[in-house]
Amino acid sequence: MESPTNYKNKTEKTGENCLVHPVSLKGLIIPGNIFLAPMAGFTNVSFRSICLEKGAFFTFTEMVSIEACARKSEKTLHFLDRPVFKWNNLETIVGVQIFGAEPCRISPGLREIARYAPSLIDLNCGCSIPKILKTGSGAALLKNPRKIGEMLSAITAETDVPVTLKIRSGWDADHLNYLETGFIAEESGASLITIHPRTRSALFSGQAEWNHIKELKQKLKIPVIGSGDLFTPEDVYRMLATTGCDGVMIARGAIGNPFIFSQTVKLLSKGSYEKTIPLTMKLECAINHLERDIAIKGEERACIEMRKHFCAYTKGLPGSAFLRKSIVKARTKRDYKSMVDDYLMGD
Ligand SMILES: Cc1cc2nc3c(=O)[nH]c(=O)nc-3n(C[C@H](O)[C@H](O)[C@H](O)COP(=O)(O)O)c2cc1C
Repeated sequence: MESPTNYKNKTEKTGENCLVHPVSLKGLIIPGNIFLAPMAGFTNVSFRSICLEKGAFFTFTEMVSIEACARKSEKTLHFLDRPVFKWNNLETIVGVQIFGAEPCRISPGLREIARYAPSLIDLNCGCSIPKILKTGSGAALLKNPRKIGEMLSAITAETDVPVTLKIRSGWDADHLNYLETGFIAEESGASLITIHPRTRSALFSGQAEWNHIKELKQKLKIPVIGSGDLFTPEDVYRMLATTGCDGVMIARGAIGNPFIFSQTVKLLSKGSYEKTIPLTMKLECAINHLERDIAIKGEERACIEMRKHFCAYTKGLPGSAFLRKSIVKARTKRDYKSMVDDYLMGD
């Protein structure tokens, strides 16, 4: 495989598309093809704002139940709130990810979602949480691609914004149906498809099978976004260069490391990037993230929910195991700040 620099020089000469480029979907222009993947419990407005600031071109809300939206559940619709803060002004567009299995609930659900001005609606067909599977939603839909088609048709009939789909490769290794699902998605009006090329049974085990991304890209006309095992900028380069996919979504690799976005864009557009993130920059980012979370949900809840992010921000730092013992007890912003100050002073 060519190095990013060779690839860049070659594509500049031939005028071919470079690896970073906008993605156009039915009137929506996403300025670049490196996205933050939807992650339940993580991709709230504060984390999204941090990732956008660090270079992600597009983000998704946490998934919401279309059934709960149809019932006007405030608790669910709250996930779609985008409060106005100075730090949140980069989020001019956002994808709303829904899950559900009843086409007849799409219309009332989307009517509620429309109040939050989504830039696109993404249908989740990859979630493998038993509670979701039991309702026939998420990855359970992969067992019945026709039903996915019905869901997509119901969504496209109800909304003018682009409709997209996120899938796994199939239910299990004996039922790999990503191509069939892809064709159905295209026929049913989807504007883009994302694949996390593992099966529902595989959950997160083994390696993501990027050849499924390549095959889907070769067979479909709509843009294909790849997801799975993108932990470094080099991983993103390899996925784009070897599968030919139109863009990527980074998930676990962005938790505690939103810098992966700016590093990736640098690598893809300039051929190299600064590998070391200064410790102070990392910890400043973590505190910034905490302050934004506090602004949204109040200090008590934010401090508890930020523990997982803080553990990720500090993972791999010298003494991080010791630091984690304090993180899991942190209850106030002061706890976090003094922990960081003590750490930086080598206490
Ligand atoms: C904590 C967590 C929550 C996730 N929640 C969602 C979700 O709500 N919707 C979705 O489509 N995928 C979800 N995913 C899957 C990711 O979007 C992504 O496809 C998968 O993690 C593979 O990418 P990665 O190897 O970069 O993590 C989640 C993944 C993680 C780790």
